[in-house]
Amino acid sequence: MINSKQNYTVEILFQERQIQKKIFEVSSKVSQDYKDKDLVIVAVLNGSFIFCADLVRNLDVRCSIDFIQVSSYVGTQSQGKMQVISGFKEDLTGKDVLIVEDIVDTGITLDFLISEISSKKPNSIKACVFLDKKCARKKEVPVNYSCFEMGNDFVVGYGLDYSGFFRQLPYVGRIKEFGK
Ligand code: IMP
Ligand code: MG
Repeated sequence: MINSKQNYTVEILFQERQIQKKIFEVSSKVSQDYKDKDLVIVAVLNGSFIFCADLVRNLDVRCSIDFIQVSSYVGTQSQGKMQVISGFKEDLTGKDVLIVEDIVDTGITLDFLISEISSKKPNSIKACVFLDKKCARKKEVPVNYSCFEMGNDFVVGYGLDYSGFFRQLPYVGRIKEFGK
């Protein structure tokens, strides 16, 4: 267990500049695709707060932004059991919903979100994810936009946490404890 007082180093996988460049590209695609649509962004808390903030500030299209908070993880292991901590407030009926997620790992969270949102009868549902851990899938889910694909590593930073820590890092990396 790493706590805030322990020393650690982070092996960087995606640098801040590389992330910002990629987000600009993905935002441009989203703006293009949703030009004539009724876009509602549903950001998945807590992990997507930084990604979503950067993504929407690069968008050149009218949209509203809502939030949902779900949880399936304790430490580095998915429990595979979804919990809605706080639901969305917007009426999604007839809207073009874009789910914004930090990372898709097993796909269980995204699958759950898609079925929750489908029940509100939107016009369309797509997913925009910052990181795609394709090789870790247990559920087949559509990922319409992603910034980076990665292997089956546990990463932190740019919104992603380990037991609540490291979300504030402007880059993404693997934690290395000193002496290990
Ligand atoms: P899934 O339901 O297994 O696809 O997991 C999705 C959620 O697990 C993400 O929204 C993250 O909050 C969390 N998660 C999965 N992999 C990582 C990781 O490498 N670092 C931090 N959080 C992760
Ligand atoms: Mg998340």
